[in-house]
Amino acid sequence: MKHLLGIDDLGAEGIGEVLRLADSFLEVTRRDIPKVPALRGKTVVSMFYEDSTRTRLSFETAAKRLSADTMTFSAGSSSLRKGESLLDTVRTVEAMGIDAIVVRHKSSGVPQRIAGWIDASIVNAGDGWHEHPTQALLDAFTLRRHRGDSFAGMKVAIVGDVKHSRVARSNVKALSALGAEVTLVGPPTLMPPNLEGWPVKISYDLDVVLPTTDVLYVLRIQRERQQEALFPSLREYAARYGVTSERLARLPADALIMHPGPTNRGVEIDALVADDPRSVINEQVANGVAVRMAVLYMLLGSGEGRAA
Ligand code: NCD
Repeated sequence: MKHLLGIDDLGAEGIGEVLRLADSFLEVTRRDIPKVPALRGKTVVSMFYEDSTRTRLSFETAAKRLSADTMTFSAGSSSLRKGESLLDTVRTVEAMGIDAIVVRHKSSGVPQRIAGWIDASIVNAGDGWHEHPTQALLDAFTLRRHRGDSFAGMKVAIVGDVKHSRVARSNVKALSALGAEVTLVGPPTLMPPNLEGWPVKISYDLDVVLPTTDVLYVLRIQRERQQEALFPSLREYAARYGVTSERLARLPADALIMHPGPTNRGVEIDALVADDPRSVINEQVANGVAVRMAVLYMLLGSGEGRAA
């Protein structure tokens, strides 16, 4: 495998392989010196054309723990849509002699385009509303640490702004490939317009879904992506779909609560809920490093030299 652009690049088997590799890298991250020489001599560049804290730091930490050299390119948001300048930038970066580019961009499909231009491996760190495959992988990894290898019959409710969520798209693919049953929950205006072919159930009523949920996956309300008023007010949204302590009383005692971060506390999730013992939100972040180590290792660790 050369690139990771979306979950379909992996399939159930590939996902399993990443998760198994991540187990051993998780062990590495817990050592006194959390570093292995696996990618010594390789160079990983992060190019983030969109704001990010955890994903960029997570990839950079992962690359460093594999002893790769890292470079960061942070773009402002002004020249984004100029395909030409993107091409120029990427070619310039490639000319420095690099092995992988980790890309985040607000437009869907940008990582795929870059993969067509240059020889380096491309990892999609989130493209528009499309996909965010390493987020889904770290989520699956976190679930597997709690629930073991079998996802069969696991009931996952993904709640909130599904329409604008690349996290939801990648998770629907990954979790259903592993055998989980996914239900999307939210107001009709925050559901994708066409759900044909999605292996999911739909519900508009969170309170009905909660008692039979094993995993409550809460999405951030992506206000920066909403051009129109898709719900009357944040307060209204929170009243129907916000995950509050009262609402959580309906969730089984052994359920898990997840969120990709960053959270809007008080909107989609209450402060107390994020700190509930069933919440694994901080574990997701910690596991992200091990999972991204596994992905970088899979793409670059074959021992082959640089192509160009
Ligand atoms: C997500 C993203 O940027 O796609 N965050 C993340 O990567 N941890 C989700 C979000 O922004 O809501």
